[in-house]
Amino acid sequence: MLIRHPDDIAPSEITPRALFDGRRDFLRHAGLGVGAALLYGALPGDAHAGYGNPSLGPLQKSPFSTDEKLNDYKDITNYCNFYEFGTDKTDPARYAQRMKTRPWTVSIEGLVHKPKTLAIEDVLKLAPLEERIYRLRCVEAWSMVIPWVGMPLSALLKQVEPLGSAKYVEFTTLADAKTMPGVNSRVLDWPYVEGLRLDEAMHPLTLIAVGLYGEVLPNQNGAPMRLVVPWKYGFKSAKSIVRIRFTDKEPVSSWTAAAPREYGFYSNVNPEVDHPRWSQARERRLGEFGKRKTLMFNGYGDQVASLYTGMDLKKNY
Ligand code: MTE
Repeated sequence: MLIRHPDDIAPSEITPRALFDGRRDFLRHAGLGVGAALLYGALPGDAHAGYGNPSLGPLQKSPFSTDEKLNDYKDITNYCNFYEFGTDKTDPARYAQRMKTRPWTVSIEGLVHKPKTLAIEDVLKLAPLEERIYRLRCVEAWSMVIPWVGMPLSALLKQVEPLGSAKYVEFTTLADAKTMPGVNSRVLDWPYVEGLRLDEAMHPLTLIAVGLYGEVLPNQNGAPMRLVVPWKYGFKSAKSIVRIRFTDKEPVSSWTAAAPREYGFYSNVNPEVDHPRWSQARERRLGEFGKRKTLMFNGYGDQVASLYTGMDLKKNY
């Protein structure tokens, strides 16, 4: 994000939509369900519901979903930010297959009554999986519409019974220099860290995603579990989470540490607060010509504006 101005993104990097529409139609007609629990531990290639990873269906449909046109699977999985694999948009798709996502555990600790370390298989049993179609607005002024599969983050957080003194939640992600070439560069201070206020983390829109397009999450999108916070710029949505820590102090995120004037703690999508180097008033939806207006809170204001009552969102950017 520090490196590229949004206008530097070449049109040639945008995926032709037609290429994958045929496969998406197949997925729709075939239905999404084969049984998540059975298939989740399987190696990619064991079951092909549509795009290549095991199916996670049948899935509950979420009332929080937008009915906007979905971005193609290829856009979503080939135009990624995952700096542990490099800073180019295609680096994650090229290199993330090296990341080992089994076995995988997440430790949940800090200001809690019952700290726990959960295997990903146990995380999946905590709540029914839902399909949630969300807009993702990147700070670089592009956006996508993504059919995530996941569960509310609150289902996970409740497991450890947070103490009354817990005010924030910090997320730390994998930093494995052996499998993640970007970790050897100094573009960010590794591991990648992000944070939310406790009420933001517990908000029903905040999702732990384990899949997209009905299938197990591709590595480049943050397998096996990542955060999705749809009213905030995409960098808040930490990928490949290994640790969740409750704290009474505002966590310092990797992006804030790297460039505090550019990336604040709140990072709510706000067309009225420009990034110091470019406007945030408009965005380019991948696959569309021209730009569209950026909506306050990425269009989720009805659900989340009350979290920020009385706060100056220009100061708390
Ligand atoms: N998580 C980790 N661990 N490393 C990253 O570099 N990039 C962030 C976020 N989560 C990032 C990350 C940014 S800048 C964005 S826009 C989103 O992931 C992109 O998610 P996507 O590639 O699945 O669209």
